[in-house]
Amino acid sequence: MPKFSPHRLIAIAEEIFTAAGVEEGEAGIVSEHLVLANLAGHDSHGVLRIPEYVEWMEAGDVVPGQHVSIIHETPVVAVMEGGWGFGQVIGLEAFEVAMEKARENGVGIIAVSQCGHIGRVGHYPYLAAEQGLVTVMFVNTHGGGKLAAPWGGRGRRLSANPISVGIPREDGEPLVLDMATSAIADGKLKDMHNRGVPAPAGCIVDADGNPTTDPAAYIGPPEGALLPFGGHKGFGLSFVIDILAGALSGAGCSREGVNRIGNGFLAVVIQPEQLRAGDGFYADVAGLVQHVKGSELAAGFDEILVPGEPEIRTRQQRMREGIAIDDTAWGKICAAAERYGVRLIASE
Ligand SMILES: NC(=O)c1ccc[n+]([C@@H]2O[C@H](COP(=O)([O-])OP(=O)(O)OC[C@H]3O[C@@H](n4cnc5c(N)ncnc54)[C@H](O)[C@@H]3O)[C@@H](O)[C@H]2O)c1
Repeated sequence: MPKFSPHRLIAIAEEIFTAAGVEEGEAGIVSEHLVLANLAGHDSHGVLRIPEYVEWMEAGDVVPGQHVSIIHETPVVAVMEGGWGFGQVIGLEAFEVAMEKARENGVGIIAVSQCGHIGRVGHYPYLAAEQGLVTVMFVNTHGGGKLAAPWGGRGRRLSANPISVGIPREDGEPLVLDMATSAIADGKLKDMHNRGVPAPAGCIVDADGNPTTDPAAYIGPPEGALLPFGGHKGFGLSFVIDILAGALSGAGCSREGVNRIGNGFLAVVIQPEQLRAGDGFYADVAGLVQHVKGSELAAGFDEILVPGEPEIRTRQQRMREGIAIDDTAWGKICAAAERYGVRLIASE
């Protein structure tokens, strides 16, 4: 299993994307995002995605060189289209608009459609929180609900419909909740399949609706489905996220006949000082962190972590020790590179 420094991995990703026709600056944004996902421990949204992104470009589903265009705007709202550009570029540009509105008017609400896959969702609320802004973000798959079964069903009807919330802190890195509403993310199952490890129980069903831990029985053919996390509650959350991200943005809700992969999203960015004068917000956040961390530990645990902390820990570790890429993913990355005349060597 080859191991890379983050710097080397970004350079590899950039080399492939530029060879495939992406302009250097844009290739850098996408590559950095993917490697930051690896650093955070979310390999499912890291460089594993390079071959898929290149294939989407080849199919014309993702179009390099696009920027957001605002199609409707008020002081606090912007409805935007991304021209099916790389989601990492469109996502950042859209967030710039939201953050500007939040700084000027207390809140910025953005609804975005025609946007390629935005990758690790928590990246955007994290950036806003670094600038002192709270974010609530809802994401769907632009109508292509082809992964998760509804509660009580076994057919693929919804996507993993993630939600992310970013909370700034006065002293310390932002708190970021960043989670799919399926019991497991589709990309994680592909990663587990590559590594030959079973999925956790209660996350997927096979094509007949039987519970399974075999990632291959989910991937198919015949295809199984993801289950919502937390039964009917996760399903309910996924269902309303599909409406918030899809129906409000114009990307559309999960439905039949949508094959193009992309993300529709809604983000509400808030400047906390507009709601709480002084440092009351930050004091309450710090108090809650201390309160939950002070709980007696349950059996089998040696620490209580708050949302975003596992990613920070993994990033610190992988910055020191490097990022290991499993052999299957590395083989696919090399094959994608070779199609564009790039020969990769699995060493620093
Ligand atoms: N772009 C898309 O369409 C899309 C779709 C689905 C998922 N994703 C991404 O996939 C990634 C993985 O999602 P996931 O649902 O598998 O994430 P996950 O289950 O690993 O983590 C979800 C959340 O739980 C927190 N967490 C994890 N372990 C914890 C612990 N022990 N104590 C306290 N908090 C803990 C994490 O900080 C995170 O906020 C995310 O980055 C998500 O944005 C993207």
